[in-house]
Amino acid sequence: MVLHVNTIESGYDIILSRGALDKASCYFNLDRKVIIITDSGVPKEYARTIKDQSKEAYIYTLPQGEQSKSIDNYIKALQFLVEQGMTRTDCVVAVGGGVVGDFSGFVASTYMRGIDFYNIPTTFLSQVDSSIGGKVAIDFMGVKNIVGSFYQPKGVLIDSNTLKTLDKRQLHAGLCESIKMAATSDKELFELIENSKDLDLDLDTIIEKSLIIKRDVVEKDPKEKGLRRVLNFGHTIGHGIESKYGLKGYLHGECVGMGMLPMCSESAKQRIKALLNKYQIPCDIDLSKVEIMDYIKKDKKASGSQITIVYVEELGTFELKKIDIDEIQEYIKRGL
Ligand SMILES: NC(=O)c1ccc[n+]([C@@H]2O[C@H](COP(=O)([O-])OP(=O)(O)OC[C@H]3O[C@@H](n4cnc5c(N)ncnc54)[C@H](O)[C@@H]3O)[C@@H](O)[C@H]2O)c1
Repeated sequence: MVLHVNTIESGYDIILSRGALDKASCYFNLDRKVIIITDSGVPKEYARTIKDQSKEAYIYTLPQGEQSKSIDNYIKALQFLVEQGMTRTDCVVAVGGGVVGDFSGFVASTYMRGIDFYNIPTTFLSQVDSSIGGKVAIDFMGVKNIVGSFYQPKGVLIDSNTLKTLDKRQLHAGLCESIKMAATSDKELFELIENSKDLDLDLDTIIEKSLIIKRDVVEKDPKEKGLRRVLNFGHTIGHGIESKYGLKGYLHGECVGMGMLPMCSESAKQRIKALLNKYQIPCDIDLSKVEIMDYIKKDKKASGSQITIVYVEELGTFELKKIDIDEIQEYIKRGL
């Protein structure tokens, strides 16, 4: 399946096909110098498969984990590109999860004012979410994604066979991003995830439907001026949970999963909660004990004393509500 994404500049294709990794050179121009950026947790054979299809390729491996999205690593990667004599006509290929994708895209966006960037996401989260939309970034001074840009890939290749090596917990955490999109925008997708008896069999359909939701949103709002806020469903409180517990054990997707619960009607909450239970996403956290208000007050989505939240009254629909920041406490209490 090929999904085209229109961008302000022109557009790019997302190839979604099992086994596509072995045929990457049919979709991407690898007949040049290629820097493949990956991380130490991604099975090595994925980057090697791309190397074997390239004219001249070098693999650059980051340590796995969010800490790699650092300014120090960014400088080291740029040094590597200079040392390999990369020119404006060469390209960077990301092979990995959202960390690798965000990092590589940012490197590609700034090297020589921007060289071609291809993304091969290998986690569920990156396949349904971070590889589309053009947001690339690194972390700085303890703040996630604070240094970055909008930079569109030349192409994205999704081979769901790569998910076979992914830890189940990572897979399910990534699934929360699909649940998030389904809850606000596609009731049928929500029901598909609810009724799925074998996730592996339904993966490609879930990825495709999630990508279509995200594609439609980012095409209408490429620079996050309005509609794109819908993608933040679950994130206001989720980020607060993550800032407190992220490094201590909860994954981003799990925090988003928990963050959705206070932001919907009772009936939607019960169904989302059942879904989180089905995929072993923790949701018994005592939100009243999470010191999230400080975080939310500092959060970039807050303007003055007000904040825009995404609220789901009925599954498959959403509304953007501007509320006083202090009202979040009320939502949290109701969401428990
Ligand atoms: N740009 C965006 O729009 C956007 C959206 C959402 C999240 N993000 C970013 O994405 C990042 C999180 O991404 P993530 O959840 O993919 O985490 P990740 O990139 O850290 O990957 C999770 C782990 O899985 C390993 N891994 C990756 N692919 C694998 C595979 N196929 N088999 C086995 N192991 C594999 C990695 O080595 C890592 O240890 C965050 O930095 C977040 O800020 C960006």
